[in-house]
Amino acid sequence: MNDFIQKMTAHVSVRSFVDEPLKEEIKQELLTAANSASSSNFVQAFSIIEITDKQKRQQLGEIANCPEYVIHSGAFYVFVADLYRQKCLLDKAHQPLAGIQNMEALLVSVVDTTIAAQNMVVAAEAMDLGICYIGGIRNDLTAVSNILNLPKYTVPIFGMTIGIPTTKNDVKPRMPLAQKVAQNSYDQEKFTALANYQKETAEYYANRGSNQQQTDWLQKNIAFFSEERRPEVGAFLKKQGFSLN
Ligand SMILES: Cc1cc2nc3c(=O)[nH]c(=O)nc-3n(C[C@H](O)[C@H](O)[C@H](O)COP(=O)(O)O)c2cc1C
Repeated sequence: MNDFIQKMTAHVSVRSFVDEPLKEEIKQELLTAANSASSSNFVQAFSIIEITDKQKRQQLGEIANCPEYVIHSGAFYVFVADLYRQKCLLDKAHQPLAGIQNMEALLVSVVDTTIAAQNMVVAAEAMDLGICYIGGIRNDLTAVSNILNLPKYTVPIFGMTIGIPTTKNDVKPRMPLAQKVAQNSYDQEKFTALANYQKETAEYYANRGSNQQQTDWLQKNIAFFSEERRPEVGAFLKKQGFSLN
């Protein structure tokens, strides 16, 4: 395994940072990495908003329920799925907007946004910086849109804290590839044979360096998906102009 891939396998989310801004040149490199990602049909349907305003960081951190590391990271970005540029182009060309309103267009923009973000993550970790995605900003999409002054055909997908780590968690054991990878067709039996992973994750949660818990990956997923989360997201997407068809 080369050094680069080794770094990737050492990934952990970092939630405690040296409280100093990242240097401009580092931020430019991170943003350039994000901007170099693949893009579906080269539509580049994302925007990245850096939050430098302390009050906005505080507000966004509170919405996400983690103000501590949103405020005290070296940089904080919000990744926005963004078809507003295309909306303006279509308007100018007197074309209908159906092509940016449907579910496929929304998926394209969310995927583009996510790939760009992960490019930034890989670049940051290559520089020994720590990151944490902050999906918690979707706790209040309307408030986030107001704070960022987002137009229609945009959706804030997640935030990203980046900085110099002060502490690092243990690496979380991923589900073995045997339970995730098949050849030529989906393997229902193999992909749901999770008894060993249950044991492995129970041990991880019981023995990890901080926040030890009597649980496992299966229990966590049952608890997580037993309730319908953020039911207001659909209405928000419609308000932003998406048909969800
Ligand atoms: C899209 C996305 C959103 C996330 N949102 C949050 C968040 O709001 N707050 C947080 O502390 N961690 C968040 N995380 C981090 C995950 O909890 C973390 O990646 C997962 O537990 C695996 O741990 P690891 O990254 O340390 O391996 C998010 C991760 C992703 C990919």
